[in-house]
Amino acid sequence: MILSPKKREQVLPLPVVLISTISKEGIRNAAPWSNITPILRPLEEIVLASWLKRDTLDNIRDVGEFVVNVPTADMAEAVKVCSINYPPETDEFEEANLGPRPSAKVMPPGIEGCLAWMECELVEEILREKFSLIVGRVVHMEADDRYFDEEGNMDFERAKPLSAILGNRGVKYTRPVGVGFEQRYSEMSLNNG
Ligand SMILES: Cc1cc2nc3c(=O)[nH]c(=O)nc-3n(C[C@H](O)[C@H](O)[C@H](O)COP(=O)(O)O)c2cc1C
Repeated sequence: MILSPKKREQVLPLPVVLISTISKEGIRNAAPWSNITPILRPLEEIVLASWLKRDTLDNIRDVGEFVVNVPTADMAEAVKVCSINYPPETDEFEEANLGPRPSAKVMPPGIEGCLAWMECELVEEILREKFSLIVGRVVHMEADDRYFDEEGNMDFERAKPLSAILGNRGVKYTRPVGVGFEQRYSEMSLNNG
């Protein structure tokens, strides 16, 4: 089967996060995001792609800070509510019944019930005709102890992070599962022996 190059995300399961921001008037916003990735391991920057008409983008430009909240699969319903394009003056925490979680280093609150929180500062905006790439630096990160061991490794089965396939007619929410196979970084080097 040949698929249109425009259907990239149908062959690529993506993470689903909730980005929380505040407007310059202090109105809280939360929006689901899948076009987001860390920029190489183990650096501190992330990049996200945004359509230009997004309150999230406006808020990041105005305030320079945002929180990447990692929701559990149980939060899919709240994620769905946050995907509605409410006007900028609507408090989306109230609409989706989200509990605010005070952030340590940035002004926007995180979202209670998520499994991890990345507090980010805007580093650079790469503006294109139809979209924008936001490069952010993670300045503080916390994770819920219930889902992580002392070294900060996620227990996948307990945490149930949310992912998605962006299909023809809409979003199919999924979650990644382990395949029972692990590899050490040292095994990627020919000189590991
Ligand atoms: C699973 C999912 C992933 C999404 N990913 C993105 C994304 O990567 N970039 C984007 O611009 N919009 C994305 N959206 C759409 C926004 O979440 C949606 O338009 C939202 O209403 C934007 O809210 P805002 O205007 O308050 O920022 C996604 C929506 C869903 C449901």
